[in-house]
Amino acid sequence: FAFAEQQLKYAFPKIDEARANESQESKEKRIAKQWGELTNPRNTEPDGSLRLVPSKDWTSGFFPGELWYVYEYTHDPFWKEKAEKHTEMLEREKKNGTTHDMGFKMYCSYGNGYRLTGNPTYKDILIESARTLITRYKPNVGCLRSWDHHADQWECPVIIDNMLNLELLFWASRETNDSTFYNIARKHADTTMANHFRADNSCYHVVDYDPETGAVRKKQTAQGYADESAWARGQAWAIYGYTMMARETGSPEYLAQAKHIARFLMNHPNMPADKVPYWDFDAPNIPDAPRDASATAIMASAVFELSQLDKSDEAKSYLDFAEQQVRSLSSPEYLAEKGTNCNFVLKHSTGHLPGNSEVDVPLSYADYYYVEALMRLKKLI
Ligand code: GLY
Repeated sequence: FAFAEQQLKYAFPKIDEARANESQESKEKRIAKQWGELTNPRNTEPDGSLRLVPSKDWTSGFFPGELWYVYEYTHDPFWKEKAEKHTEMLEREKKNGTTHDMGFKMYCSYGNGYRLTGNPTYKDILIESARTLITRYKPNVGCLRSWDHHADQWECPVIIDNMLNLELLFWASRETNDSTFYNIARKHADTTMANHFRADNSCYHVVDYDPETGAVRKKQTAQGYADESAWARGQAWAIYGYTMMARETGSPEYLAQAKHIARFLMNHPNMPADKVPYWDFDAPNIPDAPRDASATAIMASAVFELSQLDKSDEAKSYLDFAEQQVRSLSSPEYLAEKGTNCNFVLKHSTGHLPGNSEVDVPLSYADYYYVEALMRLKKLI
C-alpha cells in the first residue's frame, strides 16, 4: 500500500501530460461522437505513453476507485480530494443505458466514495445509475443484456463479466427498499449459473440468447483463446461474481458455485506455481503464453472474501491461495519499479490478446482489484 500510494502520487502529472498530448484525431473523434472529456487512465499504449479514456469506457471507474481505497487506507484528505475529482468526471454515465458496464464505472467510483463519505449527491447518482442499468433487463431471458454491438452475430449477448454489475443493484435495493433491483440481480445470476458453466465448472465468455424465447443460441468467446477454452479473466469475473452473490443473499447455492469455481482454478494443471494464471488456461503456447495480473488480482480479492464466507475445512486453503497470489503480485516480477510503468502499480496484464490489444501491459483494473485485495487482507489480520 505504501508503494501504491507513492506510485499514484506521481500519476497526476502524468495524467495532465497525457491530456495535453492528446492527438488531434482522438479529439475530433470524441467531439464528433459527443463522448465528453478524457477522464481516467486505462493502460499504456505500445509507444509506452499513458492512455486516458472518456467516461463511457468500461474502465473509467477503476482509477477513482483505487484512489478511494488509498484514502480509506491513509485517511489523508489529499486522496479524498483526488478521488472526488476523478469520480465526479463520470457523472454523465448515470444516464448511459447503451452498456451493461454501469457497475464497473459507477460502483467502483461513486460506490466507494459513498461508502467512505456518505455524500448524498453520490447516493442520488448511484440510484439513477442502477435505474438506468435495469433498462437493459430482458425478462424473457432473465438477464441484463451485455452488448449492443455486433448485432449481426448476437441477438442478446450476455458475458460473464456482467456478474460484477449486479453489486450496484443489491446496493440500490437496500437504499431504496425497491426489491425490483434485488430480483433482477438474482434472476440474472441464476440464468447465468444455468447457462454459462461447463461440467468442469469453467465458464464460457459469451452466451447469446433469443430475446423472445430465452433459448440459448450460441456459447462463445470474444476475448479468450477459443469458444471452449477457459479465458482467465472470465473465470476471475465468475468467482468474484458468485462470491459477491453469496455475500449479498446469504444463499448457499451461490457459495457452492463460488467454491466449485475455486476448485477449478486451484487444481488446474496449467495454474503456474506462483498462481498468476496465463491469459487463458488453454492458451496454445503455455508455458510461454503471457500471464494476466488483472485476472490474478480479481481472483485474489474474491478468494479472500470466499475464505471468510465459507465455514468448511476448505476455507484455510482459499486464504492460502489468495495470499500466494497477492505475494506474487507484490514481488519484483509483477510490481512496477517506482516512477516507471506510467505510474500503474502492476505490470504484466493481458486485456484482449486475440484482438492484439493490451498484451503484457499495466491495466487500471489490475491495480484496482490489487488494492481491494490488500484492503480485504488487511481487514483479516
Ligand atoms: N470486462 C471486459 C474485460 O474483462 O476485458
